[in-house]
Amino acid sequence: MFKKQNHLCRCLAAALLFVAAPTAGFAADVVTSPDGSIKVTIGVKDGRPYYTVNHNDKVVVNTSYLGFRLSDAPFDNDFKITSKSRNTKHGTWTQPWGEDRVVDCHYNELRVNLQQKDRLRRQLSLVFRVFNDGLGFRYEFPRQKNLGDFQIMEEKTQIAMPVDAEAWTEPTNRTRYYEALWTKAPLSTKDTVSTPITIEVGDSLFMVLHEANLTDYASLNYTPRHLPGADVTLVAALTPWSNGVKVYATAPFVSPWRTITITKTPGELITSKLMLNLNEPCKIADTSWITTGKYVGIWWGMHMRDYTWSQGPNHGATTYNAKRYIDFAARHHMKGVLVEGWNYGWDGDWTKDGDKFSFTNAYPDYDLEGLQRYALDRGVSLVAHNETGGAASNYENQLDSAFSLYRRLGIKVIKTGYVNPLMDDKEDQHSQYGIRHYRKVLETAAKYHIMVINHEPAMPSGLCRTWPNLMSGEGMRGQEYNAWSSDGGNPPYHVCVLPFTRGLAGAMDFTPGIFDFTNKAQPGTRPQTTVTKQLAEYILLYSPWQMAADKIENYEGHPAFSFIETVPTNFEKTVVLDAKIGSFLTIARKDRYSDDWYVGSATDENPRDITVNFSFLDKDNQYVAEVFSDGPGADYRTNPYPISYERILVKSNDSLKIHLAPSGGAVIRIKYAR
Ligand code: NOJ
Repeated sequence: MFKKQNHLCRCLAAALLFVAAPTAGFAADVVTSPDGSIKVTIGVKDGRPYYTVNHNDKVVVNTSYLGFRLSDAPFDNDFKITSKSRNTKHGTWTQPWGEDRVVDCHYNELRVNLQQKDRLRRQLSLVFRVFNDGLGFRYEFPRQKNLGDFQIMEEKTQIAMPVDAEAWTEPTNRTRYYEALWTKAPLSTKDTVSTPITIEVGDSLFMVLHEANLTDYASLNYTPRHLPGADVTLVAALTPWSNGVKVYATAPFVSPWRTITITKTPGELITSKLMLNLNEPCKIADTSWITTGKYVGIWWGMHMRDYTWSQGPNHGATTYNAKRYIDFAARHHMKGVLVEGWNYGWDGDWTKDGDKFSFTNAYPDYDLEGLQRYALDRGVSLVAHNETGGAASNYENQLDSAFSLYRRLGIKVIKTGYVNPLMDDKEDQHSQYGIRHYRKVLETAAKYHIMVINHEPAMPSGLCRTWPNLMSGEGMRGQEYNAWSSDGGNPPYHVCVLPFTRGLAGAMDFTPGIFDFTNKAQPGTRPQTTVTKQLAEYILLYSPWQMAADKIENYEGHPAFSFIETVPTNFEKTVVLDAKIGSFLTIARKDRYSDDWYVGSATDENPRDITVNFSFLDKDNQYVAEVFSDGPGADYRTNPYPISYERILVKSNDSLKIHLAPSGGAVIRIKYAR
């Protein structure tokens, strides 16, 4: 049975301080971060609302205009400021799961209320919240006489960059499911790109552009343009409906937050909680049913083409096969078993005919109810796979029947999938249509106490704060590309980029842990890593539900599997020890339920000697550190398998040198010495 962890979602805990005061005068006004390092100026020039951002007295965002084009009128000019107000908030809240338990939330807010000067007198408010590590702003359309139902044809938000800095991005067009490789190049050379966008402004200045609280709106992209007053100006480009409308809305209405994270080191990007802090507090009163854990699955075998999802002689989802996986999970402390291809709908071209999927009817060679009983008896549960083939309506029609069945059987985790970039063969997954669908699935799942791992998802925007049953997602080139991608698999730098790009948006179901790199189906395609780097992925690519992705036969008797067995999935605290985006990173995380620490490190194709400084450990204690590192001769191209293992005693003032092979890695399990 899924172990219940007794977390209460105290989403707005501890001393919250509100200060509200109206501001006199209608000129441009300034709001600073609590520590004064970030200064945002907001005003109206020639009727156009704008803002600028300074970081430690350096301009990091030049004059950038704001507004919209609505279907019946422009909504970015002819404005005057009618009033302003300020707020300050400081407090902490607790995450039921995540990379850090306690989250500090401290910001200063400036709200600027605007009105157009023409006869309609339409109103718009700009709300800016400035934290010590960045800012978020959003548009609020108040209830008003001359704006009821309306359509946004264009959001005109600008981010004017004083320097044409190098940025890690993914192109919006020509990319399906956010599954492109991230590339680094000057912003001005890019096409329209999706968020997050990670900008290396200099050696000690990093900026990330993304959004928070995307609930009933279109996903955000930016197009770089050459406009007067800046080296390069990023202009919002929302993902449209098929008819070109970007957003259907009714006032009162709020946009998602447009976020700009600003830090001095890449590591602070990972530990920033700005996006989560801009989401609504938890809406689930009792979160005790929301758990974290690890799972194995009848999955890699499909991608290796040993098994099929469809019925036939090699059908993977058989009762016999699933029992083997359940037995293995029970022996090795895995809480879940994912079985893909268990339900009717896989026999034709499921990527096009998703409306044939049933989410309740199992194939005849798969005893759903019997298997779940068998699993529960052994302290394990099935993870229900819900591939929709993009047929969102077909799925929505079955949500209640499927989720009530799963609840009755005690299945608490599902993996959803949308292998068709057009939902219902018409609307982009990342349009408002798609966003509404994902939201409906999530809220319905919460009603039935079901946790969701979402493949081909919306780009996460921190919604897991409000709905912590949104556990993890894909939205990146995951491990599966190491099975069948014609380019040979994910390149060595990939794992050193993801935590600073896709990972900043939310937990990643990358599905680490491949131990056997042979591939009969697509020779030459395989993880472009050493096996030790596969272990490091459990620390570096955070997910509250981590898969041990390989076939179980490849784990049996393998000495390194003990690391996967014990690595936690819910952490008290995360410390980024060292990092260079795209080259290497080392992260230490403290287990939520013990005093144990886990360290993971990975490098790109270059070998590297790293030094792990143990200053994150308690001062007065001695620890046993078990180090798994690349063994003699390890090299991802020629010999990915050698692993060295040593046990040493360490204290907080010690440090340890570790050699990482080309595309190698290392992990350390650290416990009190008894
Ligand atoms: C794509 C998903 O990413 C993968 O994990 C899954 O096996 C297939 N779709 C089938 O649903």
